[in-house]
Amino acid sequence: MHRALPLINQTRGANVLEIVQRNGHVLPSDRRDAWMSEMTRPVRSAERVPWPERIILELANTCNLDCPMCRVGEFGVASERFMSRDLFEQVADELFPHAREVRLNGLGEATLVPWFHDCLERVSRAGMHGEIITNLTCDDETISRLVAARFVVLVSWDAATPSLFEKLRRPARFESQLAKLRMLFAVADSAKLRDHLHLLFTLQRGNIDELSGMVQLAADVGIPNVLVNVVKLQDESWIAAVAARIESALDDARAEAGRTGVHLTLPDHIGPLRLHGSGVLPSSAAGCDRPLREVVIRWNGEVTVCNMFNPYTYGHLGRHGFERCWNGSIAQAFRRLVNTHKKHPYCEGCHYVHGVYEQTRTIL
Ligand SMILES: C[S@@+](CC[C@H](N)C(=O)[O-])C[C@H]1O[C@@H](n2cnc3c(N)ncnc32)[C@H](O)[C@@H]1O
Ligand code: SF4
Repeated sequence: MHRALPLINQTRGANVLEIVQRNGHVLPSDRRDAWMSEMTRPVRSAERVPWPERIILELANTCNLDCPMCRVGEFGVASERFMSRDLFEQVADELFPHAREVRLNGLGEATLVPWFHDCLERVSRAGMHGEIITNLTCDDETISRLVAARFVVLVSWDAATPSLFEKLRRPARFESQLAKLRMLFAVADSAKLRDHLHLLFTLQRGNIDELSGMVQLAADVGIPNVLVNVVKLQDESWIAAVAARIESALDDARAEAGRTGVHLTLPDHIGPLRLHGSGVLPSSAAGCDRPLREVVIRWNGEVTVCNMFNPYTYGHLGRHGFERCWNGSIAQAFRRLVNTHKKHPYCEGCHYVHGVYEQTRTIL
């Protein structure tokens, strides 16, 4: 995740040359030539890949909270940064028939979109598996509908200590969010879908010592899964500086998970720290298939790479159409380079873990 780059909010978006330049601009000089050459190389028909099985739709690029590591909600809710309903319908018509899974959130809070319930309905009607990461500030009706649509719900929760939670999820209130979490559990439990619930903990310097408390909180509420994400910052040197504390917090959290039966999922590394053992899943840092399997449609129609919100852009849905974005030179350049030493700098040390979602799907 990253602070939102300025995006071109035009119905038809930027042209290919502008996109190539914008993608190239953020690359280090020792990689730029290789990327520029790949981004402008014609694609052979044998290189084309099937349309993605997983779609990530950024319904809102704005938020009602202003979390310090994110800031997409810095200026309050801006409804002009909701995806247009026409764009949503276009994506549903063109892409849903080819896909199996959809995640309905991007950098902002999707449940703010006034026609969010219709999105759930559309995903259900398409027979797709739905997923959302949410701050769970939505109303009870939305919670019930998420469960009725059999969504996997990842509730972002960065601290078990109320005062710290309120600093990291400002201006949410711990007690009212806890009441919503309990309600989500009750509804999912009665639908026999408790396995679809996760707490998503974004590890950052200020909440290392919260990990075992998070597992206790999940156990107390009945949430069976805690997934650890790592804050994405330009400078990751903070991790090495507190590696011993992270290791000790992980030991405590694992012991708590063993005691309570909560399933704690960890990436195979946290910055330079290698993790092994129970609950550890491979991360994309070791090899990434996301550019072959998933795509992000941003709120304004830009087509980008992956659920980690790599800012690299393939094109614009309105201007270029999906096939040209997905199978054009710019996307193929990313696929050719993602698992090489010239990979995109945003991909370095990626903490995305494969398999969490797939494990939940098998329980359906
Ligand atoms: C950007 S939010 C959007 C969804 C929703 N508004 C929420 O808060 O859950 C998705 C997830 O990204 C996490 N996140 C925010 N900023 C991040 C960053 N700089 N690095 C890594 N994860 C981040 C959030 O904690 C949340 O779990
Ligand atoms: S390695 Fe790159 S493409 Fe793969 S999930 Fe991470 S940021 Fe996305």
